[in-house]
Amino acid sequence: MKTIHVGTGVPYDVLIGRGLMDEAGTQLRNVLRPGTDLAEKPCLAAIISDTHVGPLYGARIKASLEAAGFSCVSYEFKAGEASKNLTTYTDLLHFLAQAHVTRSDVIVALGGGVCGDMAGFAAATYLRGIPFLQIPTSLLAMVDSSVGGKTAVDLPEGKNLVGAFHQPCLVLCDPDVLDTLPEAVFRDGSAEVIKYGMLGNEAFFEDLARTPIRDQVEHVIETCVAMKRDVVEADEFDFGERRKLNLGHSFGHAIEKCSAYGISHGLAVAAGMAIMTRAAVTKGICRPEALPKLLSVLEQYQLPCGTDFSVSELAAAALSDKKMGSGKISLIVPETIGRCRILPVPAGELGSWLCAGGVK
Ligand code: GLY
Repeated sequence: MKTIHVGTGVPYDVLIGRGLMDEAGTQLRNVLRPGTDLAEKPCLAAIISDTHVGPLYGARIKASLEAAGFSCVSYEFKAGEASKNLTTYTDLLHFLAQAHVTRSDVIVALGGGVCGDMAGFAAATYLRGIPFLQIPTSLLAMVDSSVGGKTAVDLPEGKNLVGAFHQPCLVLCDPDVLDTLPEAVFRDGSAEVIKYGMLGNEAFFEDLARTPIRDQVEHVIETCVAMKRDVVEADEFDFGERRKLNLGHSFGHAIEKCSAYGISHGLAVAAGMAIMTRAAVTKGICRPEALPKLLSVLEQYQLPCGTDFSVSELAAAALSDKKMGSGKISLIVPETIGRCRILPVPAGELGSWLCAGGVK
């Protein structure tokens, strides 16, 4: 098992290892109640999951938690990004209140990015904040969204527009669960993995081109989590360097929104990275040889390199993104493989970036 310590204001560990799902109870007890008997000081674990993941792993996690002395209640919401909204969030709060969850209890987010974001936001706000454990079950959630404390739900106006920073008390990544992940969901996570190589690690990027992610999945998770840890420790609240983790996201979020979330996050981020890199080459910011390398890796992982949405559709959607401030939008622009910069661009110039990125 590998432990990556995240030294944020409220510090915690990310544990990566096969079989960790069955250790959830003991690992959580070690963090929440070290050296105490849960029979003397009871703790209720509210397991939050969706209709895909709950039936697969809910019983296993519950058994592990109960064996370690936790009492459990479970809540499932309909799987999919469309559920990541204020209605599901409010239903979840009612569930927690009716189950009498207190500040000495814990939320367990068991699922992919949607589950972690929403259960994390409930944990951040219910009773002004209670602890939560992240058990990511998708590649995307393991390498990115479960680490760093960003929690949120979407509004009709845009993605993640209501949220809070709330670090988990522990993250458990069990790569065994990825063996049963549908190929399309695994592919979605591959886009976020490639993003890490593209934004800050050329050797890792080359590695992904040589060896399929599935054949080196533990190394991939460790590398991405360690990179994210370094960024988040330096800029926990996203005022500077952390924004580089949004490479591909300004246009990616716009693509997701234009598709009414029919296009998944990873596919949208892949297309967003390709558009941005093409534009950066056209504008003389990125080395030209970076573009064919990126496109070739995206194709290798069967990820899209563009979109059918129009410049005006995407520009309108991107302008509602929260990366917008004082009439400017912060674009994350590649300079080469393994290096990017944050570039504030006036809102009126967004169309020219999309055109330069090959959008019609
Ligand atoms: N997923 C981007 C971040 O955590 O900042």
